[in-house]
Order: sequence, then C-alpha cells, then structure tokens
Amino acid sequence: MLLEISNLGVVVDGLRVLEGISISFDEGRLIAVVGANGAGKSTLLRAISGLDKPHTGKIEFEGRDITGWPPKAVAELGVSMAPEGKKLFYEMTVVENLKIGAYRFRNDPARITKNIDRIVGLFPVLGKNRNRIAGTFSGGEQQMLTIARSLMSEPKLLMIDELSLGLAPIVVDTLMQTVKQLNREGTSILLVEQNINQVLKIADYGYVIENGELALEGTGEALRNNEHVKVAYLGL
Ligand SMILES: Nc1ncnc2c1ncn2[C@@H]1O[C@H](COP(=O)(O)OP(=O)(O)OP(=O)(O)O)[C@@H](O)[C@H]1O
Ligand SMILES: [Mg+2]
Repeated sequence: MLLEISNLGVVVDGLRVLEGISISFDEGRLIAVVGANGAGKSTLLRAISGLDKPHTGKIEFEGRDITGWPPKAVAELGVSMAPEGKKLFYEMTVVENLKIGAYRFRNDPARITKNIDRIVGLFPVLGKNRNRIAGTFSGGEQQMLTIARSLMSEPKLLMIDELSLGLAPIVVDTLMQTVKQLNREGTSILLVEQNINQVLKIADYGYVIENGELALEGTGEALRNNEHVKVAYLGL
C-alpha cells in the first residue's frame, strides 16, 4: 500500500473532527475524498501532512508508520499538498513560487531548473508567463500554479484540497483533466472535493465523509449511481 490509514481520529480544539477513518490505496491511484462543508476533509489532509496530530489510529506511508510525524519529515518522504484556497505568494512571480515548492531540493539547483521546465510544460499559461506576478493570474490559473508548486517536490503522493473552489465549471473541467493526466503519468493523487459529480468521473475510487466519519466508499461510478449520493449530493 502507498497510504494506509486505520481508525484515524482527530480532535481539534477539543472538538472531535474525525473518527474511525480507514482509507488505503496502492501507488498509481487517483482517489477522491468527498463530503459537504465542514465534514472533515481538510482535517484529513492536514493529519496526513502532519499539521494536525491524530488522537487515535495509525497512518502508514509505504509501510512506514508516520503517525504524529512533523510536517517536514512527511514532506521529505514525498507527500505534497496543494492547500485549500491556493495560499500562493501573490506578490511573487511564477518561478519564485515554484522555487518555494522545491524546498526539498534546495541544495540541487540543476534539479530545480529541470523540474521548472518540465512542470511549466504541463501548464502552458505558466510557461509563457514565468516572470509574471502570481496575483495577476485568473483563479483557475492560480489553481494551476498551486498544483505546479506542489509538483516541484516530485511527490509520490500529491494531495489536492478543493481543486474546484470558486472556479467556473469549464475551468474545473480543464483542471480535472490535467489532474487525470498527471495521474496517468504516474503520480498518485488524493483529491478532496465538495464538487462531487466531476471528481467521481475521474477518480478510481472514492470515500464519502459525513460529520467526520466514513459514510460510503466505492468506485467513482458506483458512488455516482448510489441513491444516497444522488439525493444528498447530486441533487437528483
Ligand atoms: N482550528 C479549528 N478550530 C475549531 N474547529 C475547527 C478547526 N479546524 C476545523 N474545525 C472544525 O472541524 C470540522 C471539519 O473541518 P474541515 O475544515 O476539515 O472540513 P472540510 O470538510 O474541509 O470543510 P470545507 O468543505 O468547508 O473545506 C468543522 O466543523 C470545522 O468547523
Ligand atoms: Mg476543507
């Protein structure tokens, strides 16, 4: 298994935010975690990243117990997160933002340059505007830069928190296809989304979180055809 989470519980500020979460998947997969506002999706990614400490349970990455590890140590293993709400350095250029994502290779400038060239190739709008200030791009383009920055660490697992937040449907479509492409090229991806319909179209497998607990799991297609998912999330 690439990632194996068993019986994860997280308490934030005395509040039980996650309980009894078990999720596991192999390398090469594209996994979706979906749920409503406040269900606990971001907390799950924060726990994997080491930003929130688990209260119960275990998190294993490539067979290694990383429960309670500090964020830096988790990142060094090749786990990278594109956080919710982009969190770019808006006054800095594309290249400067990308270099920040390459912290892991700070002693290897040649590798950083090579990665910048490769990654902007995936996002032509960034490639053509390497020296433009991040804050001047559209919302969708900023989301691309957030993902591009996460890729600079050559992650084995890329976690994306709310790819579609605040973006027009056509932009979301393009980004979803880009994510699918990244996955086809070999990056394992854990994608958290409120926009359930679209993410389940590209995901191999998905989990539905409700009030901090796993409510359902299954293939993307099975979940899209599930009566509860249809009624509660797809408005059908
Ligand atoms: N630092 C915090 N202090 C208090 N409560 C928190 C904190 N962080 C999260 N919570 C609570 O934990 C619950 C889960 O939050 P989380 O951000 O993980 O949900 P989410 O599924 O990512 O929601 P959204 O779709 O809105 O991003 C919410 O009820 C939230 O209010
Ligand atoms: Mg969230």
